[in-house]
Amino acid sequence: MKKFKIAGNWKMYKTIEESVKFIKELDKKINFNPFIETIIFAPHTSLSSIYGLSAKIKTGAQNFHYEEQGAFTGEISPIMLDKLVDFVLIGHSERRQLFAENDTAINKKIKTALKFGFSPLLCIGETLDERENNLTLSRLEQQLDSDLEWLNIDEIKKITIAYEPIWAIGTGKTASPEQAQEVHHHIRSTMNNKIGDASEDIALLYGGSVKPENCRLLLEQKDIDGLLIGGASLKVDTFSAIISISIDSLI
Ligand code: PGA
Repeated sequence: MKKFKIAGNWKMYKTIEESVKFIKELDKKINFNPFIETIIFAPHTSLSSIYGLSAKIKTGAQNFHYEEQGAFTGEISPIMLDKLVDFVLIGHSERRQLFAENDTAINKKIKTALKFGFSPLLCIGETLDERENNLTLSRLEQQLDSDLEWLNIDEIKKITIAYEPIWAIGTGKTASPEQAQEVHHHIRSTMNNKIGDASEDIALLYGGSVKPENCRLLLEQKDIDGLLIGGASLKVDTFSAIISISIDSLI
């Protein structure tokens, strides 16, 4: 039986009040299902108000610093996230592109997350230019090699990976289910080369313009174990619709 992780990435949206209202409403709309893990990556300011508010909804931070403390104005340390999050998002393309986050920093963040007991959700993906030049698979391999460098099998096993083609994020263009499956299959074999059979247990999520209308076919693909959802996670109705469809799609 498959298990799905359905994660919402709220980005820089929602006040504390709006976040609490959303979680309370979502909690009422969804049933507990042991095969579905629902996660909300909320703004830091909302985390202490929503953590533990619903037994059905886990929380995640969208960013944090790999150092535990220091002179890093504006940053949030892993110590500060203690007891506020289950997951941390690492290497989202917006962090990579808009905040110049490189693979070295991403690698350090994964190590820090594991040290503090947070589940890392690592995002990787290619640009449109890379896809058009047939560089998708090699780009993803390069990201996995650098981001997972020096990690041992036990550490890598704890990571969830989200494939998010950059050209599909917030654009309304989704990878077709076949395109997504092809890439997920390749990520699975790359992980198999790194950690052997344990790669079967790594959850591979797809992200990029996921909505209720296109999620079913994506979830039906063999190597897709869940979704990372931006825009459609901001409304309780659309996000809960995706969760309901994912429950229907469990086989
Ligand atoms: P989107 O965002 O669903 O709005 O395309 C996905 C993401 O950025 O994680």
